[in-house]
Amino acid sequence: ALFRRKDYRPFPWLVPEVAMDFALGLERTDVTTVLRVARNPAAEHADTIRLNGDEIEPAGVWVDDEPASDWRMDGGDLIIPLSGDAHDIRVDTVVAPSANTKLMGLYASDGMLCTQCESEGFRRITFFPDRPDVLSTYRVRMAGPKAQFPVLLCNGNLEAEGAGEGDHHFAEWHDPWPKPSYLFALVAGQLVANSDSFTTMSGREVALNIWVRDGDLPRTGHAMESLKKSMRWDEEVFGREYDLDLFNVVAVSDFNMGAMENKGLNVFNTKYVLADEDTATDGDFDGIEGVIAHEYFHNWSGNRVTCRDWFQLSLKEGFTVLRDQLFSQDMGSAPVKRIEDVRVLRGVQFPEDSGPLAHPIRPDSYKEISNFYTSTIYNKGAEVIRMMRTMAGEQRFRQGTDLYFERHDGEAATCEDFVRAMEDGAGLDLGQFRLWYEQAGTPRVIARLEHDGTTAKVHLSQEVPATPGQPHKRPMPIPLKLALFDRDTYERGEEQLVVLDEAQKTIAFGGFAETPVLSINRGFSAPVTIAREASRDDLVFLAARDDDPFARYEALQELVVRQLKDAVEGKLDSEARDKGELAIGDALSAVLADGNLDDSMRGELLLLPSEGYIAETLAVADPARIHAERRGLRAVLGRMLEAEFVALHDRASAVPFSLDAEARGARKVKAQALVYLADGNPERSAEMAFAQYQGADNMTDRQSALMVLTGLDGVERTNALIDFYNRYQGNALVIDKWFALQASSMHPHCLEHVKALAGHRDFTLKNPNRVRSLYMAFAANPHAFHAADGEGYRMIANLILALDPINPQTASRFVPPLGRWRRIEPGRSALMREQLERLAAADLSRDTAEQVSRSLG
Ligand code: ARG
Ligand code: ZN
Repeated sequence: ALFRRKDYRPFPWLVPEVAMDFALGLERTDVTTVLRVARNPAAEHADTIRLNGDEIEPAGVWVDDEPASDWRMDGGDLIIPLSGDAHDIRVDTVVAPSANTKLMGLYASDGMLCTQCESEGFRRITFFPDRPDVLSTYRVRMAGPKAQFPVLLCNGNLEAEGAGEGDHHFAEWHDPWPKPSYLFALVAGQLVANSDSFTTMSGREVALNIWVRDGDLPRTGHAMESLKKSMRWDEEVFGREYDLDLFNVVAVSDFNMGAMENKGLNVFNTKYVLADEDTATDGDFDGIEGVIAHEYFHNWSGNRVTCRDWFQLSLKEGFTVLRDQLFSQDMGSAPVKRIEDVRVLRGVQFPEDSGPLAHPIRPDSYKEISNFYTSTIYNKGAEVIRMMRTMAGEQRFRQGTDLYFERHDGEAATCEDFVRAMEDGAGLDLGQFRLWYEQAGTPRVIARLEHDGTTAKVHLSQEVPATPGQPHKRPMPIPLKLALFDRDTYERGEEQLVVLDEAQKTIAFGGFAETPVLSINRGFSAPVTIAREASRDDLVFLAARDDDPFARYEALQELVVRQLKDAVEGKLDSEARDKGELAIGDALSAVLADGNLDDSMRGELLLLPSEGYIAETLAVADPARIHAERRGLRAVLGRMLEAEFVALHDRASAVPFSLDAEARGARKVKAQALVYLADGNPERSAEMAFAQYQGADNMTDRQSALMVLTGLDGVERTNALIDFYNRYQGNALVIDKWFALQASSMHPHCLEHVKALAGHRDFTLKNPNRVRSLYMAFAANPHAFHAADGEGYRMIANLILALDPINPQTASRFVPPLGRWRRIEPGRSALMREQLERLAAADLSRDTAEQVSRSLG
């Protein structure tokens, strides 16, 4: 079935109250659900109620305490005739958590029971109108063997607990806040808590618990600190206070996504909870801080104000991603965070937007909603709201969000509601801006500077590319921050915010005796690509002089992208190649020497654009050529700046371990130095990396050294890999790194390594983290995935076929890499398509089938 946004109808019944009873067991859990239902005055009359179900059967149905027999099934749904205006409906079901490998609904992980209900998992537990606009208060009783499930958790407040029959015990939970079924959660198992408390701005004392397996307690400190910071920040910056006396977080090792914002009981992938310096990298620490914040922020942007239907997913996800980004900007370096976020957008969302899976941030239709938890909904969704913030300014933006929360508290809202609150609260006219919700595709802005007398004119034009189902596009309002620099005095004119809202526009600036240098899309004010007619000298100027850190980074990236593009397209004779390499070398050398830069920013400026990003700038890409040219350039730079990189590595190695910004920056540039030297002088790099590996007192240094070593040949590689495995055997998250490092390595035999690792005793298709650590890392490793004979494509297709019956949601996530076929050179393109066709001929889940058919186009 295809679901369409325009087909939305309110549900005919309200379900104000739900009471559930769980008799818990890993093999079998018995569920009794009682729904209090009443006619929805705002909906059409119906003489039945449709309760969604998925892989469950009714074990008994009662209406108003009388056994009912006139119900029927329609597919997985239960349909019960109802004649009156209000009824109590009881339905019993039996579920088998241990057999639930999809990890949706109630499932077993590491001997405990947990749930994942977003989007449509609740219907795998009990029959229910499983849609986000049906809001209910829940009362839940659960009972089970005390030794096996000593801790019993649910949403809301604990109201009673005690001994049950025999060795059983029970707990009763009540959540006073009406919520949709996707926010339901239940956890039962042997868990221990890191407990703390937080006092809210109005003086409410909130008990905080982070629940983990026994041995993991020492690795929960960072998550707890992040949680308390998030709670304070949301009060200070968005005026949002927490609304229960209890906030629980549970870490589980089998989880399809990052984490889930269930009311008062967030369930997390262990990856986003557990960290200490010996087992987690600086990047892992940041990931935890960001995801803890994200899920906590959902309490307002998602839970108190939820979504009317799943087409509105970006209403909560885009907004919450923006909120977690702004939080992380405030916790660390704002410019570095901005660069990281743009890198994710360009690395994942831009390719999505330019490929067969392109969709607007508010889609018009879907077959399987799980496929729409995309970078477009999340990251582009955040950029769209960030543009509103840029246009309104911080203060008026806050007035808009205040109005949004006030107007829609307790409601299931739409993206349109958000936009209207922004218009009314922030005083913006967003008439044309709504196109950002409708049109897919990354707009392309062309900027040209014209100089005449003392006037500088900036000519801007835009194109929004055609995307599947949207051949013709209208011009979008694109807010561009720009500034002009005087070439001689280095002085910058005032920064302007220009909204390009037509196909073309020209802005004139006076007072320039000479042609100035244009700095555009400063701070990445709009999620667009920019084609600017800037000379190499202009880019070098901006890379050295621009006071906007993002614009500076951007100029350097563009310098490199141009060089690599020209090289790949065979446009460089040896003179032009040398010239380009020298210009880049000079720019990097300036970055290495610039005493005003902190190391964290230096590390960003040193990072070469990824192969994927370079491919994205080409109509049709040859991955092998891009790989060779990028490696070649890095080798040249590594040799050209060898002494500087060695000195940088020495200096940074002298900084003792700590989690403060300076030490973290030092670790970042240390890794960069090794990477350049690995291509410029492999022997020297191997020696340095091995020494760094052996001397490391933290995971960041150990991992970056091992990353370089896995790409090289020699006994150091083997020894380090064995040492790493032995040291961390039994720590699943670190063993994931061990798999991922090998799958993303620069080693020429990476593909064979991955094949062998699939047979390793620690590899399993049942654990999504492990699957991703091997195969996502591989699919994102261009030189291995794009092996000329198509073996990489075949491996991913084989994986999809093997994983789909076990976990379709995770399996379907491996289709997009194959879906890039239209943008790859003909030989490989045909091989990719061949694998997609092989998949299309197989019996696939709804998730994977939808992605395969869209990818074939
Ligand atoms: N709402 C969660 C988050 O953004 C993601 C849940 C996705 N679940 C799913 N089955 N697709 O944090
Ligand atoms: Zn979210």
